[in-house]
Amino acid sequence: MSHRVRLFRVVVAFCAALVVMAATGCGGGRSTAITPLAAPAADGQQVFRFETFGDEQFWTNTLQMNQVVQTKVDPTTALSVGLKVDADALPAAVLAALQAGQLDLKSPATTVALLKLNAVVGVKATVDANNNVTSFGISCALCHSTVDNRIAKGIGSRLDGWPNRDLNAGAIIALSPAVDAAHKAVYNSWGPGKYDPRFNEDGLNGPVLIPPAYGLAGVNLATYTGDGDVAYWNRYVAVTQMHGQGNFSDPRVGINVVSPVDLVTPKIPALVAYELSLTTPAVPAPADPAAVARGAALFNGAAKCVTCHAAPAFTDANLRLHTPAEVGQDLAYANRSATKEYRTTPLRALALHPPYFHDGGAATLTDVVNHYNTQLNLALSAQQTSDLVAYLSTL
Ligand code: HEC
Ligand code: HEC
Repeated sequence: MSHRVRLFRVVVAFCAALVVMAATGCGGGRSTAITPLAAPAADGQQVFRFETFGDEQFWTNTLQMNQVVQTKVDPTTALSVGLKVDADALPAAVLAALQAGQLDLKSPATTVALLKLNAVVGVKATVDANNNVTSFGISCALCHSTVDNRIAKGIGSRLDGWPNRDLNAGAIIALSPAVDAAHKAVYNSWGPGKYDPRFNEDGLNGPVLIPPAYGLAGVNLATYTGDGDVAYWNRYVAVTQMHGQGNFSDPRVGINVVSPVDLVTPKIPALVAYELSLTTPAVPAPADPAAVARGAALFNGAAKCVTCHAAPAFTDANLRLHTPAEVGQDLAYANRSATKEYRTTPLRALALHPPYFHDGGAATLTDVVNHYNTQLNLALSAQQTSDLVAYLSTL
């Protein structure tokens, strides 16, 4: 009676046809590159997309997310918490069934099949012959990649470095049976696009927006508070947030993690090279070039933006950081960081990733300009505000 294609059948048939690929497993297994890659940046892409640094010790052994996805997370739920499906990892038959609406998107078994195909962006799972999810880990791509939605919302080709502003990381963690009610309440308070990379260290709750990981070449300090360079922060996240197996120590934030195994250090150079190779994506062409030109003149003149947002990366991060009072931002998040200050955010494809500021305090670019109008006493007219917004939308 049912016209539904059983995804498992398709997947099993697909895998059977690929017995020669047994070494890489059919989607499951370790992060083995399918083709040998020579260039460091290419290796880095594999690390960025698929490397867990052994964080299964946390996501599987502690949080038991393997069991959660197997029993509770159908694809509709997965997409609703912002997980993305890599359409290019799906065999043609599965893709066709998906496009024809013939996959059961209300069954966790379909999620397991997608995991088996290594098609859930940022999630690395092992699925055994009985379709039990035996391990579950995450990679950088979970938060710092999205897809172009070419098949459907949440399903398409990967866009590495784009912040996943749909991802409700807190809601996902809160699904774990190992998390108590008080922590669940905190995780569930974060909402989509935000994550608190310090909560598990200092116990304070103040999530920040997941930033783009592109457009950072030439910017010597990473993160909203400029705690260190890209390599520093990659180690911080891999060890303290993903819970990969490695060491991280920074007395400034009172963290000293020592692991008997270090799966992080050897991967960092290639990972950093890949991140720095991710250029800022193009934004849509402006509707009113004259307004853009007037906005540029304001940005570089009367509105004083350029004093901090200096070209080429539109930041002064290599020279100085700024106190919260100087830029009208909250003391709370800065105080939890190593520097207690804010870094001038490099302006990168702003039109593609609202909201703005570390905590999402500005919903639109107009809100950003209004913030500075007050903060810097600019007395901008409505026309000048919209001109500045027109210019910012082109960066
Ligand atoms: C659970 C979500 C999550 C994961 C996983 C994650 N990040 Fe991030 N990342 C964030 C958040 C949130 C910030 C902002 C933190 C801050 O600035 O205080 C951030 C900041 C960054 C930045 C700084 C961007 C800038 O503008 O300076 C880079 C680079 C980065 N992450 C790369 C990575 C890499 C590489 C990995 C994997 C090793 C990774 N992230 C894993 C959420 C995540
Ligand atoms: C005194 C230095 C300084 C000046 C002047 C300044 N900014 Fe900023 N800008 C910052 C800092 C620091 C941040 C990060 C604030 C945060 O994340 O809370 C920032 C963040 C931003 C962001 C958010 C980017 C993002 O991706 O979240 C935009 C947009 C922006 N500034 C535009 C402007 C414009 C337009 C002007 C001029 C009207 C301006 N800035 C003037 C330092 C400055």
